Amino acid sequence: MGSNEELPEGTVQNILEQETLKWVFVGGKGGVGKTTCSSILSILLARVRPSVLIISTDPAHNLSDAFQQRFTKTPTLVNGFSNLYAMEVDPTVEHDESLVSDMTDGFMSDLANSIPGIDEAMSFAEMLKLVQTMDYSVIVFDTAPTGHTLRLLQFPSTLEKGLAKMMSLKNKFGGLISQMTRMFGVGDEFGEDAILGKMEGMKDVIEQVNRQFKDPDLTTFICVCIPEFLSLYETERLVQELTKFEIDTHNIIINQVIFDEEVIESKLLRSRMNMQQKYLDQFYMLYDDFNITKLPLLPQEVCGVEALQAFSHHFVSPYQPSIVRGTVEELELRVSTLKEQLKDAESELERLKKGKQKV
Ligand SMILES: Nc1ncnc2c1ncn2[C@@H]1O[C@H](COP(=O)(O)OP(=O)(O)OP(=O)(O)O)[C@@H](O)[C@H]1O
Ligand SMILES: [Mg+2]
Repeated sequence: MGSNEELPEGTVQNILEQETLKWVFVGGKGGVGKTTCSSILSILLARVRPSVLIISTDPAHNLSDAFQQRFTKTPTLVNGFSNLYAMEVDPTVEHDESLVSDMTDGFMSDLANSIPGIDEAMSFAEMLKLVQTMDYSVIVFDTAPTGHTLRLLQFPSTLEKGLAKMMSLKNKFGGLISQMTRMFGVGDEFGEDAILGKMEGMKDVIEQVNRQFKDPDLTTFICVCIPEFLSLYETERLVQELTKFEIDTHNIIINQVIFDEEVIESKLLRSRMNMQQKYLDQFYMLYDDFNITKLPLLPQEVCGVEALQAFSHHFVSPYQPSIVRGTVEELELRVSTLKEQLKDAESELERLKKGKQKV
């Protein structure tokens, strides 16, 4: 490691090299490129690890879009790979065995519902329990936009709090509750004991996962963002929350960067680029101890394994503008761009003239 720590690199190489990593979270604001980045990261990890699982916890799944393949809530081999699996889980949907579906209406279900996020947390814990038995070398999470993700990462404490609250209430009012449940004809299997039993059963998983998520050897969180004010702001909030939860984070991916060479003649792009530069400077200033990877804005979407593979080299080698300003190459490119623009303008003019003649 050594030199890496002193001089952070502009790539995600550190993630690929950290052999102990078990959980890799990829998160950020909506639409910044979380799915694209987590998909590419899982492809890169599949080259160096025996087996990789990518999980989408975003209710609006888009791993299927990125890989152009349908996925379900069981791990499915990604086409063209022998060790990369994908699954899409919906943490907001109640599973058959979820806490709330175990309960009929009544005091205990009201109580459970009064703990925000408890059911979602239980489903997430159940999913993690399942995934842990599957023995993947590393698990990548394509998370939902920030707020949602932070809620999920809080789930161990949500569950622990919920459990404590229910236990103390049970101790206080235990007799009364069971009398009441009996009075209202709720069977024992749906009663508070079943629910508490279930929650206690989860306790081991929760504690284990909680320990793992807080261990920087096992878990890290990669923040994806774009060089704009709101994204910078949200990244800072995310980093602070992660620090609060003691979850390691030292990689930022700045996506959709407009590099000089693409700008050439467009005034619009040039001013966007200047705006981006301002925020890029701030990112580098605020996160000087992070590995910051910059990804270029492409003229097209990044869809399908081939496109993901092609884009992946930006994750392992820092962006190099292929053309140096003032060279013959650059001038040639400028001339051809101007020719294209002239052609477009001429045909637009033709079209307008024709339209006028008709009127
Ligand atoms: N650098 C890029 N250049 C061009 N298009 C990109 C780039 N990165 C991502 N895209 C495209 O932008 C769209 C949004 O990206 P992606 O789905 O990865 O974002 P997301 O953060 O997962 O969004 P959501 O919050 O909706 O889940 C996709 O169509 C993707 O192909
Ligand atoms: Mg997404």
